[in-house]
Amino acid sequence: MFRKIQMDELKKGMKLCALEKDDTGRPSFFMNSLLVRSDADIEAFRGRGYGVAYVIQDDCDAGAAGGPAPDAAPAVMDADSALRKTVEFEEEIYKAVSLKDEAVGHVMEFMTDIRAGRSVDAEAFGLTVVGMIDSIFRNPEALTCLAWLRDNDDCTFQHSLNTCILSIAVGRGLGFSREKLLDLGMAAVLHDVGKLLLPEGLLKKPGRFTEAEFAEMQRHSRLGADLLTRTEGIKQSAVVAALQHHERVDGKGYPEGLSGTRIHEFGRIVCIADSYNAMTSGRPYRKSFGPHEALQLMTFEKNSVYDAGLLQSLIRCIGIYPVGSAVELNSGEVAIVRSINRNNLLKPDVLVVLNKNGQSLAPPVEAALSERKDLCIKGSANPGKYGIDTNRLILGEQARPIE
Ligand SMILES: [Fe+2]
Repeated sequence: MFRKIQMDELKKGMKLCALEKDDTGRPSFFMNSLLVRSDADIEAFRGRGYGVAYVIQDDCDAGAAGGPAPDAAPAVMDADSALRKTVEFEEEIYKAVSLKDEAVGHVMEFMTDIRAGRSVDAEAFGLTVVGMIDSIFRNPEALTCLAWLRDNDDCTFQHSLNTCILSIAVGRGLGFSREKLLDLGMAAVLHDVGKLLLPEGLLKKPGRFTEAEFAEMQRHSRLGADLLTRTEGIKQSAVVAALQHHERVDGKGYPEGLSGTRIHEFGRIVCIADSYNAMTSGRPYRKSFGPHEALQLMTFEKNSVYDAGLLQSLIRCIGIYPVGSAVELNSGEVAIVRSINRNNLLKPDVLVVLNKNGQSLAPPVEAALSERKDLCIKGSANPGKYGIDTNRLILGEQARPIE
């Protein structure tokens, strides 16, 4: 069960799933079982302007069979009809894989043509984006989990495509029309086109940039916007998103240091999708984060950087524990999230892959956490640590139903 309390009532030892600023009725972020370790934690929440906390009274009872608790955080815990899926994950995932594989080539060709100043058929390319929008409407979990599964490629084209998929997910969570989603998807695909005008050595440099290199790198947003302005058939919203996708809501971004809603909505959305993809993509020279870890960091540590409402929309679409992420259960078992439960994002359907002794279950066992009072998620797990091949489990193996 969840209980909404004022910050004054919050005590050491309590577990939180959300915080809210000034009792607005709109919790700005969620996380499972965040333990309040000390009074300093509470002071830190206050310092960030949070006045209300959502306390988990018992993890395993939270939204178990019987529906969500009455005090459950409304924006995430209510079934969201806008995100209802029409086909199951198993059916959509294979379509999504071929859709994405095909789209990478289209994105590469489209961006390369724009970079070279060749004329492009934006309308024809738009069909690629429409295909992705359709997939996300059929099932929002399939294509979005591919934004980080199977993605070890550090190239601008792959990143642009992933940013497009995730931006559409944010827009879908906000209830955008298909027409607006198409404009957003086009803007997201093209957000980093300015990077194609920078030296390849700079883009592929392993390790940290020097100050001069960083300044050079920052030029890509303005270079991209200028290039898109000169390209026929590209809408102004794409120009603005390219220019503004590194602006931050606290005004500490670039190139203009704009803050809040002075940044175009598409700029703020692409910024979130861009960051989430960068954080969850494997890089040889930098640690990547699991999807749940990335969402936690984005909502908590960097809360003032992103638009909280838009970030919430991403979470609404892909879940607190996105499909494909590894989780540790209270039983000591390790599982992979198989499907989001929109009535309770903390209780997805999972595949249990390791027993409590760390031994592999072959085949893995399905468990719908919403129907299991005895099972709940303790926290996210690092699949690499347990030798779990997430790609194979999500994309290539059938599980048997639980007895
Ligand atoms: Fe960028």
